[in-house]
Amino acid sequence: MKYRHIAVSDLSEDQAEAELASLELELIHHDHLYFEDDKPEIADADYDALAERNKQIEARFPHLKKKHSRTERVGTTPSGRFPKALHMKPMLSLENAFHEEDLSQFITRVKKGLGGTTAVKFMAEPKIDGLSLSITYKDGQLARAATRGDGITGEDITENVRTIKEIPRTIPCTEEEIEIRGEVYINKADFKALNQTREEEGDALFANPRNAAAGSIRQLSPEITASRPLKFFAYSAVGVVSDIATQESLLNLLKAWGFQVNPLSKPLVDLDDMLHYYDQISNERSSLPYEIDGIVYKVNDFSLQAQLGYVSRAPKWAIAHKFPAEQIKTRIKKIHISVGRTGVLTPLAEVDPVFVGGVRVSKATLHNRDEIDRKDIREGDEVIIQRAGDVIPQIVKSLGSDPRRNPFTFPKSCPICGSHVYQEKDEVALRCSGGLTCSAQLLESLKHFVSKHAFDIDGLGGRKIDDLWDKKLVQSAADIFLLEENNKTTLTPLQNYPGWGSLSVKNLFASINRKRTISFDRFLYALGIRHVGRVTAQLLAAQFGTMKALQEKIELEEALETLTKIEGIGEVVAISILNFLSEDQNKQAIKNLLTHLTIKPTSKVSIESGHFFSGKTIVFTGTMQGISREEAQNKTKLCGGKITNSVSKNTDFVVYGENAGSKLEKAKALGVRVISEDEWKGYLDA
Ligand code: IVH
Repeated sequence: MKYRHIAVSDLSEDQAEAELASLELELIHHDHLYFEDDKPEIADADYDALAERNKQIEARFPHLKKKHSRTERVGTTPSGRFPKALHMKPMLSLENAFHEEDLSQFITRVKKGLGGTTAVKFMAEPKIDGLSLSITYKDGQLARAATRGDGITGEDITENVRTIKEIPRTIPCTEEEIEIRGEVYINKADFKALNQTREEEGDALFANPRNAAAGSIRQLSPEITASRPLKFFAYSAVGVVSDIATQESLLNLLKAWGFQVNPLSKPLVDLDDMLHYYDQISNERSSLPYEIDGIVYKVNDFSLQAQLGYVSRAPKWAIAHKFPAEQIKTRIKKIHISVGRTGVLTPLAEVDPVFVGGVRVSKATLHNRDEIDRKDIREGDEVIIQRAGDVIPQIVKSLGSDPRRNPFTFPKSCPICGSHVYQEKDEVALRCSGGLTCSAQLLESLKHFVSKHAFDIDGLGGRKIDDLWDKKLVQSAADIFLLEENNKTTLTPLQNYPGWGSLSVKNLFASINRKRTISFDRFLYALGIRHVGRVTAQLLAAQFGTMKALQEKIELEEALETLTKIEGIGEVVAISILNFLSEDQNKQAIKNLLTHLTIKPTSKVSIESGHFFSGKTIVFTGTMQGISREEAQNKTKLCGGKITNSVSKNTDFVVYGENAGSKLEKAKALGVRVISEDEWKGYLDA
């Protein structure tokens, strides 16, 4: 960093060596944010500038070039990032059905849409839980492969896809251009083996086969992708294929061309058929080699599909009938109580390990005391557990045991620090009253402090914090910033411990140092004040600008009123903020932290500069599903977005909800980028 103002031609050899080392760390850091977290911190152009400088220094001092230099990587663009790939037609998602009723309404809608036809044929296909991929063949040759991305533009991952054995490089297709779409996935058994190797090698484990497939396909180096057991089921084609008039015949053709198509796909004619097929596949689900999360029903005839058309983000001719979370029987060995960051006592059941949807489960949450009482769950019981998404599995019910043990008694004092346990009005949770004197609360606060939306320190996740805590190297947030200094004088430096190593310690210190400057809202959020999530932290930051201003206002008599005047901050939240900031222990902790940090003041205009929406002009249209439009607009504003009402060529994005009308049309006509509610949410949380 410190030589970056010097022209490459003027660098001394020592300077060049130092700069190459720092460039390497920076590039690794940005690659990690981009590829692993999907959350780049810098613009592509800035990244390219770093990579270019790296290349130029190496060109001038070839002997300083490392064997594994980034410029030596195979098969990537010069920038090391994937180029954008525009889809021939948008890659849409599907409407979901959960109950029989949703399905019968779908059939009714389809028939009505087709002018009251009585018989419609559907193709039923298992819904593979992987990620969708689009592969373009030109004159029968694999020419390009792209991820779904935002549905309009994906990432060009052609070289990686060429390494997937199940995807043919050439197909006997005479069309000039055709796009084949389908799902990339990893088998359950391959996933298990992959994770086992990763565990042995000390790499982070993938949470499930889907994540493993996603992580494998977006690798910088195609050799890594090649080493992963990726598979592919083809299920659709974009572009004319002469003589192919139905989904059923398309699947046959794709098979004849050398693609894998799901062997369980089946033509059906009515609701009874569908329900029967659904039950049959549900029963087979756990013995299938791959994960599925439902059934997709598609109107078989392409001309009827065309007649039905699309709603904003999904075709009217298809629906996904989702499976409920997978349930498995196991036994509770013991019930433990864990204490969270804000003191909540959560009962956790330790169970005999079982696989639920490809994931090994040894713990399940019991939520709270009421839940244990209501379901009468006791240690030693046989239970049914289920996993919904990636959250900790839940206990659905107890099957009892014979003879039954005594009912579980919830502790009256904190099992960690012994402080008394209390329950707030209208709350089910029991809490430890120890605050940060309780080591469990303190440890969890530290994990929150380094987490993604707080300090987001690369290489310092929950497990590393546990480790540093056990070694007594980090016992407060400020200790994190003293690690490097203290490491110089200690008898047992961190790099001497198993599992650390000098490179990872060096990288860790570098990533900690990068976070010595932090935005005010992230700092506030990182403090872990109860009820202060990211939005509240942003509201506070926008209102007060600096920590000093906030602390001064808190001291005044009208503090409560000042806080509650802020749109979006109510009394409960305000009191929590006041209590936290006026407590001596917290004041001291903040003071200690501030000796190591520079807090970037928040400007009232662009609240979170660097956010995807920052500085962008955005129009909302249609009805949002999970949130009111006003709230969505406020959240976007907090990220620095500018909201306007009408679409023009100066609009950066149009966010569309259900039944979006002319604004969406106009955006498309003007070539303005349109994003769905889901995508908007994804960017907001990024
Ligand atoms: S059809 C417009 N068929 O499910 C039609 N999708 O929730 C869109 N998926 O993005 C896709 N198996 O990634 C279709 N047999 C199948 C599928 C399938 C899995 C995924 C696909 C899509 C998502 C929609």
